[in-house]
Amino acid sequence: MAPTRVCFVCLGNICRSPTAEAVMRHRLQFHDLGVHVEVESAGTGDWHVGHPPDERAREEATRRGITMESVAQQFTEADFDRFDLILAMDSANLEALRRIAPSAEAASKVQMLREFDPLANGDLDVPDPYFGGSQGFVEVFDMVDRSVVGLLDHIGSTRANG
Ligand code: 4NP
Repeated sequence: MAPTRVCFVCLGNICRSPTAEAVMRHRLQFHDLGVHVEVESAGTGDWHVGHPPDERAREEATRRGITMESVAQQFTEADFDRFDLILAMDSANLEALRRIAPSAEAASKVQMLREFDPLANGDLDVPDPYFGGSQGFVEVFDMVDRSVVGLLDHIGSTRANG
């Protein structure tokens, strides 16, 4: 069975989606799905293309024993073919992705990451921490980590049911 290809998408690809990518890669190291899931992240904007993750995101990841190694890239129309699941961090990212989706099938690959957060309680946005303080990065990390656990369960059951 082909690997499930996942892309996390935020605005700049230096804070939220690279955190999700790093958390997912970390958890996959200890998970049955290990080699069956491929992970990337991207931004809907191009301002930070080629940049490493934000230092504050890297610091929070390091505090939790996780290294972030991604390089920012922009999500483009052609990427809809490269992924099976495209996880938006907030509703603006979701709208931006839907706008550039070349087909209904492509658009149907896009979901909100926090649909997999058991504590989301109706609020599906991972708030943008870029213009705030370090506490925002702690909250982002917690939300993303809970969501990634739920996402792994989802991918596991989807693959098991064909
Ligand atoms: P991200 O955060 O979308 O989580 O990577 C942001 C990074 C940069 C900007 C906005 C959000 N910016 O405006 O440059």
